Order: sequence, then structure tokens, then C-alpha cells
Amino acid sequence: MSKVLKVSLDKAVDSASLSEYKEKVKEINEGINSKSLKGNDFLGWADYPTTYDTEELKQIIKDAAYVRENYEVLVVCGIGGSYLGPRAVIEALNGLKNDSGVEIIFFGNTFSPNYTAQILKYLENKKFAINVISKSGTTTETSISFRLVKDLLEKKVGKEEARKAIFATTDKEKGALKSLSNKEGYQTYVLPGDVGGRYSVFTAVGLFPMAVAGIDVEAFMEGALLASKDTNNDDLASNPCYQYAATRDYMYRHNKSVEMFVTYESQYTQICEWLKQLFGESEGKEKKALFPASATFTTDLHSLGQFIQDGTPLLFETIIYVIEPKEDVIIPGDKEDLDGLNYLEGKNISYVNRKAFEGTLEAHTSGGVPCIVIELEKLDSYSMGYLLYFFMRACAMSAYLLEINPFDQPGVEIYKKNMFHLLGKKGY
Ligand code: PA5
Repeated sequence: MSKVLKVSLDKAVDSASLSEYKEKVKEINEGINSKSLKGNDFLGWADYPTTYDTEELKQIIKDAAYVRENYEVLVVCGIGGSYLGPRAVIEALNGLKNDSGVEIIFFGNTFSPNYTAQILKYLENKKFAINVISKSGTTTETSISFRLVKDLLEKKVGKEEARKAIFATTDKEKGALKSLSNKEGYQTYVLPGDVGGRYSVFTAVGLFPMAVAGIDVEAFMEGALLASKDTNNDDLASNPCYQYAATRDYMYRHNKSVEMFVTYESQYTQICEWLKQLFGESEGKEKKALFPASATFTTDLHSLGQFIQDGTPLLFETIIYVIEPKEDVIIPGDKEDLDGLNYLEGKNISYVNRKAFEGTLEAHTSGGVPCIVIELEKLDSYSMGYLLYFFMRACAMSAYLLEINPFDQPGVEIYKKNMFHLLGKKGY
């Protein structure tokens, strides 16, 4: 049983239904460890918390301190697995209205002309550094955004000063970004060849932006290390991570087609975005898999709540609930009580949120929506590392239960080919 999080399945499935997974789970866990399954070249993330380059982490912490001392903004250019992880962690731990320290702007995750123009204008009067992240080094959104901010920076401060402000995270040896970085002399960090984008949050992809945002990256890695030990357990009865994976598979095989990730905290919304990519891109192949969706409650109870309660019964929920908020607010009393809220006088907002969670859980389960609940006492760097590793391991198990290679994404290439053809790129 983990000390960091608790998984409750009683509102989703009974333990007898999971017993058929016992042997398969054992086999797959062994396959993950011996790297003998489909996509085994990309299993580097599984033992990464014990094998990562600690010297590189020291360099990251040092460079992040330099950025914190010398710049107002860090622009992170990256898309998909090359930005969702750090964004999820930074927003979850630092909040949505945190204006202390270096501002982190995520750029290059869209072709939006409006957002692109607005960011470039905003940066004109800011002292900014850049972290460009791309494993392939050729992703179009990232490359265009990097060209634009690099150009702006060089015009503002000159090539030599710009060079000191650019940090590149990419493959150790190959790719256009690696060659460019070598030529220009940028500080580079490695995205290991055997770790795919959506499994890269524990590499420099996540660690550098997080460290610049003031997050304790060492504690984050320690959390991941504990999770890697706890989840590497082939006994289904005592492994909540694989119980969760097996429950997803059970849902899929019992007429559910959507897993809705739910949080009750606005600053955790990006965790669900990260989860949607992790599961969607890992499993959505061969016309199989659950569609990963997400909602932030209670906000979305006022938009999707009706459908969840009474609409087509296609989904189940996976709720991530953090018990202790970092900050809280007490509801004040009012002499006249015209709004009728005095019955809540002196109560914390977190108390109201908890009761909303309990009431909704009851309502949705009684409406026939299975609910998995993952509860954490608190969310800090350590438990965040634990949580993200937990989901990565669960995702690998779940994809292998579906007999899918979790680590490729052949379907993503098709839109790119069409787009390149339409744009007139050579060879398309
Ligand atoms: O998970 C993945 O592999 C993808 O989402 C990639 O991270 C994304 O396409 C960006 O690729 P790259 O890092 O090569 O620019």
C-alpha cells in the first residue's frame, strides 16, 4: 500500500472481476522489466529514476538558478510530450496566479497566429531566456516558434548575449536542433533515445523548466523513484497501480468507451491534459482503446454534469482528489445574511469543495457511472513525481493488456504528411 496515494476501486469494480488479470499482469510486469515487449526500445523511462544522469541534474539546477537571477521570463518552445509534463507540474504546484519568480511562457504548441503575435509583442519589453525542447529537432510548431523568439532575442541583445540565454533539450547526437545547438554553442540537455516524448517528464524536458519555476526537482525525482519501486510489483492484489490499469481494461471490455479524468482544483487541469496525451497517444491504435477526456469540477458540473448523470452511459471517471490544499480561504459571516450563506460562516472553501466531491461521487455512482478515486494527502514536488510515474507505469500495463505498443504514434504522421504536401515542403 502506498503512503503517497490511495486508489479506491469500490465504486467502479469488485475485486473478483479483477482476479482474471492476475497472471497477465505478472507476465507483462516481467516483460516491462526484461524489456521484451513491443516497443521495448522505448522503455528507458521505467528505471529512469534510478539510472538518470545526476551530473546533468546538477547542471540543470545551476543553470536554472542563473536564469532565475538574470531573466524575467523563460519561453519554453515545445509541443506534445515536449511541453505538457512541465506545464502540468508547474501549474499544479505554483498555481495559476503566481507572480513570484520567473514567468514561464509555453510557446510553439500551436500555429495560432494571434497567440504567436501576442507573445512576440509581450516579449519585446521583457528580459527573457529560451528553452527549446524537441527530441526529433524538426517538429514544425516548435521550430517556427524557436526561430521567431531566437530572432527577436538576437535583435534585442545581440547574438553573443542571446547564446547565453538559449537552452536546448534534444537528442544526444542527432537532429537539426542538436546540429544547430552545436554550431551556435547553446547549453544542451539530453532527451534519451529510449524515452519517448510523453514519458519524458522526468528528463531535462520536465526538469529544466520546473527548476526555473522554483520547483524542487530533486524531491520530484525522489517521488518518482519511490513510485518506480512501489509499482514494480507483479502481485495484482497488492499493487494499486496495476489494479487501476486492470480496471481500465475491464471498463473497456464492459462497454465503456470514455475515461474522464476529473479534478476538483483548477490548477490541476493541466495534469489531465498530460494524462489525455499519455493514454490517448499510447493506446489509441488498431481501432482500440478508451477515449481519454477530462473535466474540472465543480466548474464543469455546470456544463457536462447533466450528460454525465443522465446521458449516454459511455464513460467512467478517474478522480484525482488532493485532500490538503496549499492555500485556503474562510467564508466570512454577514450581519444581514441576504445571500443566505451564513450557514457556511467560518467554513473553509476546501470544506465546501470536499462536500461537493462527496455529493457528486454519490450522485454519479447512483446514476450508473463507475468512479475510480485516487486520493493524495497533499500535492508537493515529491508526491507529484510519484503520481506521474504511477500513471506512466499504469499506462504501459494498460496498453499491453490491450496488446498495443504503447510507445509509437504512427497515426500522428498522417496529418503532418498532408500538411507538408500542402505547404510545399520538399519530398512531400
Ligand atoms: O509523445 C510524443 O512522442 C509526442 O507527443 C512528441 O513529444 C511531440 O510530437 C513532439 O515531438 P518532438 O519532441 O520530436 O518535437
